[in-house]
Amino acid sequence: GPMHASLRHDSAHKHVTGTAEYIDDIPEPAGTLHAALGLSDRAHADILSVDLSAVRAAPGVVTVLTADDIPGVNDVSSNGSGDERLLATTKVEFHGQPIFVVIGETREQARRAARLAKIEYRDLPHWTDIDSALENNAPLVVTPMTLKRGTPETEMANAPRRLTGRFYVGGQEHFYLESQIALAIPGEDEDVTVWSSTQHPTEVQHMVAHVLHCASHAVTVNTRRMGGGFGGKETQGAHFACLAAVAAKKLNRAVKFRPDRDEDMMVTGKRHDFRVDYELGFDDEGRIHAVDATFAARCGFSSDLSGPVTDRALFHADSSYFYPHVHLTSKPLKTHTCSNTAFRGFGGPQGMVGGERFIEEIAYGVGKDPLDIRKLNFYGEPGSGRTLTPYHQEVEDNILLRLVEELETSSAYRARRQAIIEFNQNSPVIRKGIALTPVKFGISFTMTAFNQAGALVHVYSDGSIHLNHGGTEMGQGLYTKVAQVVADTFNVDIERVKITATTTGKVPNTSATAASSGSDLNGMAAYDAARQIKDRLIDFACRKWQAQAGDIEFLPNRVRIGTETVSFDALVKAAYFDRVQLSAAGFYKTPKIHWDRAAGKGRPFFYFAYGAACSEVSIDTLTGEYLVDRTDILHDVGKSLNPVIDIGQVEGAFVQGMGWLTTEELWWDGKGRLRTHAPSTYKIPLASDRPKIFNVKLAEWSENREQTIGRSKAVGEPPFMLGISVLEALSMAVASIADYRVCPRLDAPATPERVLMAVERLKGM
Ligand code: MTE
Ligand code: MOS
Repeated sequence: GPMHASLRHDSAHKHVTGTAEYIDDIPEPAGTLHAALGLSDRAHADILSVDLSAVRAAPGVVTVLTADDIPGVNDVSSNGSGDERLLATTKVEFHGQPIFVVIGETREQARRAARLAKIEYRDLPHWTDIDSALENNAPLVVTPMTLKRGTPETEMANAPRRLTGRFYVGGQEHFYLESQIALAIPGEDEDVTVWSSTQHPTEVQHMVAHVLHCASHAVTVNTRRMGGGFGGKETQGAHFACLAAVAAKKLNRAVKFRPDRDEDMMVTGKRHDFRVDYELGFDDEGRIHAVDATFAARCGFSSDLSGPVTDRALFHADSSYFYPHVHLTSKPLKTHTCSNTAFRGFGGPQGMVGGERFIEEIAYGVGKDPLDIRKLNFYGEPGSGRTLTPYHQEVEDNILLRLVEELETSSAYRARRQAIIEFNQNSPVIRKGIALTPVKFGISFTMTAFNQAGALVHVYSDGSIHLNHGGTEMGQGLYTKVAQVVADTFNVDIERVKITATTTGKVPNTSATAASSGSDLNGMAAYDAARQIKDRLIDFACRKWQAQAGDIEFLPNRVRIGTETVSFDALVKAAYFDRVQLSAAGFYKTPKIHWDRAAGKGRPFFYFAYGAACSEVSIDTLTGEYLVDRTDILHDVGKSLNPVIDIGQVEGAFVQGMGWLTTEELWWDGKGRLRTHAPSTYKIPLASDRPKIFNVKLAEWSENREQTIGRSKAVGEPPFMLGISVLEALSMAVASIADYRVCPRLDAPATPERVLMAVERLKGM
């Protein structure tokens, strides 16, 4: 059947020909108005007065909304903490915080008018980065988490070798191609329909209801597709949707809200940057005895998802390694910046790149190839006594060694490393580096309740199938994969399955499409729905043809009943006339998982997804510029639901991960202004930055040992962390300056400036 087939993304041809409909492409209802934000130009201040008379008088302005115009609760905190005003009232806490919203006849008029406000402030002390947050004893936005196992204090003291260090890793702007956007269309009574570019239609529904002070049943949220989300539309779309809805209800006109790129970048949250302070205890072989580390994060002015993001950093601070004795703590720091949020990997990448720095420190400390130190410290096979994570979950499905050794061979890592060491000896300006790094990523929402999903399947009497589920499409191919599952269940062609927009009206109480769990959860829920209808068809066929269930077989587009074969359409039509229900709602919840955050113990993850990447780079030691010469990847998606889509996910995630650790740098100035708010100053990887040689393979032998849909594994986030191989390769190139005797301690993003400074530092040693 169609499951596991390399079918094209259902919208691929529409994406490239420009016919895929995004929210800004939907024909606007007559009289649609447009919104623009009025933003704070202070990082932290009391608001003394707000004079909007010039804004109201500007051409094309229909109304200006402030917090007083919000009928319900002035809060869009996704975790119910109440710490995130929709519009600021007496105080602003970051430069770019929304204070009012202008509704105009055109977007241009609304935007021009928004600049005419006169606001008086009294400045308060502010800090934007982690170091100054710590110096100012900044409050924490949520209770920190601690993971502890064994007796790290004693083992640290007893370890043959010890070292301490500090590592900085930067944040990241999502840079989805479609910016945040919402279109709200008012209905009668309290009703409102919102088209929102969101990964989480249910949350937008709830927030719009809170803000309008109505019940959830009055609000319908629709999402056909996003032009990328990457975590940036898990919570951050709510502002735009809520404000559009408030204006639409107040004026009884359709309101569209599309911020421009600069506004989107200034207002919405990003990946958290981290400072990792670590102490490592190890032996002369390079085996880890004890790890103690604190992960401090720039969370921004509100908590948003910073709790689970900083938790996930700790869950992945072990990377792929067994820490016999360990103590890890998070410090989710409040800063006067936009509120940082989900971004592919959800804190996991920051934890993992920290763990890889530990390995580098040890490797340079004992003078060995970092790959040997990696392998020496890998989690062991069941029964080895080296399988327990810092959160007390057993690693039961470890395929690290096989994966890494296959890649080591296929990429000729050893020979190339030797050749690079020889090359560097004779190359005064250009230096090369190579690194092979592993990925082990835990799959499930760490909030156990979120691991549920629903689906709705209708089979029409002509044999065509309508599919709906709670997952959202952001380019990752989820809709295609779930349609494959349904087509496979009935053994019909994929073309028979109509993929429809996610809507809160068809499947309620859904979770965000996040944590890479979209196909695991929605695939299973859709299977459950399709399976119910299939069972009814089988029952019906047994009755009508006096057959046994075992005599019935779903062949491609046909059904064999004993010796007779009928088309799928004919069976469906006959079932309809026999009054068989041809519609079903499906449901799924992930088994086995549980998590006790206070105790730091449980099984937060259903399973792990693995991968490995080997990257080779060249740096110019006079300028710090570099190229990625070659990358080889071997990645585990279990039994792939769709190999071409999965390879696309692996390639895209790797490049995005590489961008995070190399050229993408966020910069706030002394006044707390984000100065990198457009592609002119914020550098995402270009097509020309991809590895010159790029070999990407799926581990075809892998199968999920847990009972996931088709024994597949989640693919959305794990390959992001393959990008760490580029940072480590750059680090080796830098290390060549001091003959690989010291750990270069190259922080991220390793921009050309930072590479150059590291080279200069090592030259001075
Ligand atoms: N791929 C594309 N093309 N666009 C995206 O926005 N988001 C990523 C990943 N892959 C994203 C993407 C993130 S952050 C997640 S969590 C997963 O897709 C979500 O989808 P899934 O659960 O269906 O894999
Ligand atoms: Mo992805 S960061 O879980 O949306």
